[in-house]
Amino acid sequence: MKVLNIVGTAREGRKSVHAARQVDEAFEEKGHETEVFDLAEEEFLPLGNRTYVEDEEPVPESAQKLSRKVRESDFIVITTPEYNHSFPGILKTALDYLYTEYEDKPFGFVTVSAGGFGGVRSLSHLHDIVLEFEGFIGPDLQVSRVGDVFNEEGELVDEAYSDRFQSFVEQSEEFREKLENGI
Ligand SMILES: Cc1cc2nc3c(=O)[nH]c(=O)nc-3n(C[C@H](O)[C@H](O)[C@H](O)COP(=O)(O)O)c2cc1C
Repeated sequence: MKVLNIVGTAREGRKSVHAARQVDEAFEEKGHETEVFDLAEEEFLPLGNRTYVEDEEPVPESAQKLSRKVRESDFIVITTPEYNHSFPGILKTALDYLYTEYEDKPFGFVTVSAGGFGGVRSLSHLHDIVLEFEGFIGPDLQVSRVGDVFNEEGELVDEAYSDRFQSFVEQSEEFREKLENGI
């Protein structure tokens, strides 16, 4: 399947990007095509009082790109750190540019934190917005103590996570299959 992996932060020195790379690798090892949508490489202006779907004005290039990539994808992964018990505002801004594109898309979530909760407190907020999009809430994986899981070069050093990323991919495959078969 075609996997779109949206990286939820543009913070300089962000560690969750290592988890995003690991997600890609794990999907690619199983023969899937992955594409990263990295907010650090995109430009999103804060939304005013008009939304993308209603807007007659030109929308930012990055929003058009995200729209295209969401439409083309079979499965969307949001890989994000938890910021103040939610997900980063920049991710919300980017996601809010689109709406109808997300309908019926399956979503998986990889949440990341420096501490022991693996960003799980951002998960219910992510679930809420996917429900509003009329997307499907799929599997999730928490990456706790991200500073110990990856080294400075972004290499996976906590081997236990290798299985966890693989299992996340397997759960994503099963989830998509169930949706395809109407189960
Ligand atoms: C603005 C901000 C808010 C944060 N809030 C939380 C939080 O609520 N809970 C948490 O476990 N970690 C929090 N963290 C720490 C992140 O877990 C830490 O930065 C981690 O490395 C993952 O995010 P990163 O990709 O920005 O590095 C916060 C970090 C920042 C920069």
